[in-house]
Amino acid sequence: MSNNISKIGVFTSGGDAPGMNAAIRAVVRASIYYGKEVYGIMRGYEGMIDDEIVKLGSRSVGNILQRGGTILKTARSEAFRTREGREKAYQNLQRNGIDALVAIGGDGTFTGLTKFYDEFKIPSICIPGTIDNDLAGTDYTIGYDTATNTAVEAIDKIRDTAMSHNRLFFIEVMGRHSGYIALHCGIAGGAVVTIIPEEDMTMEQLFSKLDEGGKTNRKSSMVVVAEGSKLGGAMELANRFSARNNYFDIKVTILGHLQRGGSPTYFDRVLASKMGIAAVEGLLNGKQGYMVGIQNNHIVYNDFHTIINHRHEIDSESLRIAKILSI
Ligand code: F6P
Repeated sequence: MSNNISKIGVFTSGGDAPGMNAAIRAVVRASIYYGKEVYGIMRGYEGMIDDEIVKLGSRSVGNILQRGGTILKTARSEAFRTREGREKAYQNLQRNGIDALVAIGGDGTFTGLTKFYDEFKIPSICIPGTIDNDLAGTDYTIGYDTATNTAVEAIDKIRDTAMSHNRLFFIEVMGRHSGYIALHCGIAGGAVVTIIPEEDMTMEQLFSKLDEGGKTNRKSSMVVVAEGSKLGGAMELANRFSARNNYFDIKVTILGHLQRGGSPTYFDRVLASKMGIAAVEGLLNGKQGYMVGIQNNHIVYNDFHTIINHRHEIDSESLRIAKILSI
C-alpha cells in the first residue's frame, strides 16, 4: 500500500443522495484503519475553495449510517468551473497537507474532478453517489435504490386514490437525463405506460395506449414519466391528453425532491460501505484517477475518462418486461 499518502480529504458534491453518509463513514473508518488522517471538506468544491476543512475521527461519523442527506453538505459549484477557482482549491488542499481526495457524487462531480486531477495530479478517486443511476462503470449508484423505493411507495399510495376515484394519474419522477428510476418504479408500481428519455415514443402511441385502457374498461391508470422525457413532462402530457379524452378524470403528481431524502435502504447502506472501503484501498493501491463501481456484484475500478465519456445504457430486459406487463 502507498506510503506517500498520509492525509485524505473526503467530500460530497452535486445532488445529495441517500447513502452518502454511509459512504463518508466507510471512507473515514477505512482511512483510519490504514493509519491515515482524514479530513472532511464541507460543501464539496465550494468548501475546497473557501477552505472549510475539518478533521474527522471514527466517532465523528457515528450514528450517521442510517441518515439521509450528507453531513458534509453539498453544493453545485460554479467557481470550480474556473481555473482560478480550481487553483484556489489546490492551494487550500496543500496548506492543509491533504495529499489525496475521495469524491462522492455524480457526473458533474466527476467531470470537475477529472479536470482537477489532470491539472494538479492530486491522487483522487470517486464513489458514485446519485439517485439517477446514470453513470457508466457501475450497475448501481448509491441512492438509486432508496429513491426508487421512495417513488414506488408514493405510486402505491397514489394508486389507492386513483382506484377509488377512477382516475388516470401522470406521475413525474426524477433522474435528469436517465430513465432508470422511471423504468423500475414503473415496473414495481404497475404503470400502464412508462416514458423515458432513452426510448422514442410518439404522442400518438401514448394516446392510443391510454385510449385502449378506456376501451378495455380499465378503471384507473398510472403513467410514469421520467423528468427527462423528450415527449414532455407529466403536466404537459396530462394537459394534452385531457384535450381529447372523455373517459378518465386526469390528475398529475410530480414527486420532485422527496425522492432525494430519507433513510437509505439496506442495499444502499451496504453498497456505500463496500464502495467507501474500496475507494480508500484503491487509492492506497495506486488506483488514482479512477471511479469505484460495482458490476455483477464485484467491485471494479474504471478510469475517469472512460466514465465521463460513456453513459449507463438502459437495461433492455427491464424495458421488455415493462411492455409485457402493461397490456
Ligand atoms: O442528480 C440528482 C437530481 O436529483 C436529478 O434527478 C435532478 O434532475 C436534479 O438532481 C435536481 O437538481 P437540484 O436539486 O439542483 O434542483
